[in-house]
Amino acid sequence: MRERAPSLAEAHSARELVYWAEGRFLGAGLCFAHGTTNAREEAVLLVFHALGLRFDTSEDRLDRRLSEEEKARVVGLLRQRVQTRKPAAYLLGEAWFAGLPFYVNEQVLVPRSPIGELIESGFSPWVGEVHRILDIGTGSGCIAVACALAFPEARVDAVDLSPRALEVARRNVMRHQVQDRVRVLRSDVFAALASERYDLIVSDPPYVPARHMAALSAEHRHEPALGLDGGPDGLAVISRILDGASGHLTEKGVLVVEVGEGAGALEQRYPRLPFVWLEFTRGEDGVFLIEADALRAHFSDGGSY
Ligand SMILES: C[S@@+](CC[C@H](N)C(=O)[O-])C[C@H]1O[C@@H](n2cnc3c(N)ncnc32)[C@H](O)[C@@H]1O
Repeated sequence: MRERAPSLAEAHSARELVYWAEGRFLGAGLCFAHGTTNAREEAVLLVFHALGLRFDTSEDRLDRRLSEEEKARVVGLLRQRVQTRKPAAYLLGEAWFAGLPFYVNEQVLVPRSPIGELIESGFSPWVGEVHRILDIGTGSGCIAVACALAFPEARVDAVDLSPRALEVARRNVMRHQVQDRVRVLRSDVFAALASERYDLIVSDPPYVPARHMAALSAEHRHEPALGLDGGPDGLAVISRILDGASGHLTEKGVLVVEVGEGAGALEQRYPRLPFVWLEFTRGEDGVFLIEADALRAHFSDGGSY
């Protein structure tokens, strides 16, 4: 471990550039919330990408003296991160989700939902046979595509209100060769889905309360507001999903929704709904699961209270 970060003039290897970048990132007050959680991880991501290094690169290769051209390429990318405050994923045009690479641009949120962990475990033990899946607010299509790969027999509908996000989702569907099972379509929540029914409805909808939007980091403000702004109490889209889900779930279907810090407001608005708050090994929270039975009982009983 070094006692201090090298100056730029002293940094000649990938490892030294990581240390230099870490110091720069901390000094510049960057936000690390788009796939990395700290300055070191962010520096590794960018330095390795600029040099085309794999994450299992051997230690000795990290200490190789870089050519001037290589160093300039790395420093250019690191400086762009500091100057633009764009999340690294937008600079690289790529983000990883559930162990898979996705194309991203500023028309979609950077994939990072803890729902990825549920997909990797096949939503065990919560779902039985899954033939049809709906992803509401698909953005880059990351949840829809990862679900299609996790459930190779299932058909998936991926919906979003944003036509530009849908272009990105289509690109990712093609990239992962699941176009025969994933249908990408524009829909305002359930509006374009007529009487379709699903065994699993998944959503990472916008849930930031409108009054908190202005306080978001510069990095978050590069993301589309439509993907973040959840209306006055953060529940504008979530409540529409809850209100409509029982009409689109199969008898034994389940609904899984990320609500982030909106959990408290949701419990207050729907005190009688038996939400199951899921736990994650990576320590995240704010994702509920609810079964079709519970939704049917509640909403046939007269509404949302
Ligand atoms: C938090 S982003 C999630 C994107 C992606 N699922 C992910 O996890 O990275 C929410 C998405 O919901 C979409 N959205 C917002 N309002 C919507 C609505 N009324 N109907 C459908 N999609 C909506 C946004 O365009 C955005 O792509």
